[in-house]
Amino acid sequence: MIAIIGATGTIGQALLERLRDVDVPVRALSRDPGKLRHRLEAQRRSAVEIAAADASDPDSLRRAFAGADQVFFALSNSPDQVKEESAIIQSAAQSGVRHLVKISSPLFEPSAPVAVAGWHREIEKVLKNSGLDYTVLRPYAFMQNLFGLAPTIAAQNGFFGIMGDTPCNFVDCRDIADAAAEVLTRPGRRGGIYTLTGSETYSYPEIASRLSEILNRPILYIHMEPAELLHHLTERARMPLWLANHVVEIQTLSMKVPERPTDSIKQLLGRAPRTLDAFLQEYADRFR
Ligand SMILES: NC(=O)c1ccc[n+]([C@@H]2O[C@H](COP(=O)([O-])OP(=O)(O)OC[C@H]3O[C@@H](n4cnc5c(N)ncnc54)[C@H](OP(=O)(O)O)[C@@H]3O)[C@@H](O)[C@H]2O)c1
Repeated sequence: MIAIIGATGTIGQALLERLRDVDVPVRALSRDPGKLRHRLEAQRRSAVEIAAADASDPDSLRRAFAGADQVFFALSNSPDQVKEESAIIQSAAQSGVRHLVKISSPLFEPSAPVAVAGWHREIEKVLKNSGLDYTVLRPYAFMQNLFGLAPTIAAQNGFFGIMGDTPCNFVDCRDIADAAAEVLTRPGRRGGIYTLTGSETYSYPEIASRLSEILNRPILYIHMEPAELLHHLTERARMPLWLANHVVEIQTLSMKVPERPTDSIKQLLGRAPRTLDAFLQEYADRFR
């Protein structure tokens, strides 16, 4: 039995999709199992077992993990993330789980000023000391994050950033889910740390240029200073300060530490990763 924490999330939903046709029992977990059931029924996937689990409540985790031998977890970022993911690891160990698959992030140098990467570093340490088998997937920026630019593109035919023409890694969450499904369903693949990227980097001006071609109208990349972006994210986009800081920190670091593609997806899946170009074409309507 594979228990999935974050089954309503971007990667979790894609993972459920991948595991649907595999002959392995899956338990999809959510703090709101009714909502998850409703969603899966709407997708005609009522065969999946559904249970309640809240990472801030270890008793609920132990109930949810009963009978599971593997746990996949991709928790949304929050200032409680270290405490909650540590509780997942400890509860899994107490429940007889044998293998954990964690969605982490690139960790950079310990001194790098990216708070969320520091949280993942701490959680990975807990995982390492847990005595359980584990696999860590460290994806770079999700292509699906770009959907967040759509309202500004629709309103202003452009989007903002602070990175100029810095090349950045992007990875499609469906490739992350495919990688997770691979390590969950093939025992020989268990273990290890994989940094997941697409096969080429893109700068924001290049994305603007591709979108201009695909949407058949000019889309501009609008360069900002970090303080201006922080103000925009907190005041106009109403992001919590810790999250807005994360966006600024991660973009600032991309300019200092060059990003290069890895071959982890090819290594794990035996095929090339999905490309950003194909992603933008597939989802063109979301950016119109
Ligand atoms: N976005 C990026 O570019 C990027 C890049 C690298 C790494 N990452 C990492 O990816 C992870 C997020 O993955 P994602 O985007 O697939 O997730 P997501 O869409 O943010 O959703 C994660 C799920 O976490 C569940 N959750 C949150 N708090 C919970 C709690 N207390 N107990 C149980 N479940 C809880 C929620 O499920 P319910 O509401 O149903 O309970 C939610 O569906 C983060 O750790 C982030 O650091 C992201």
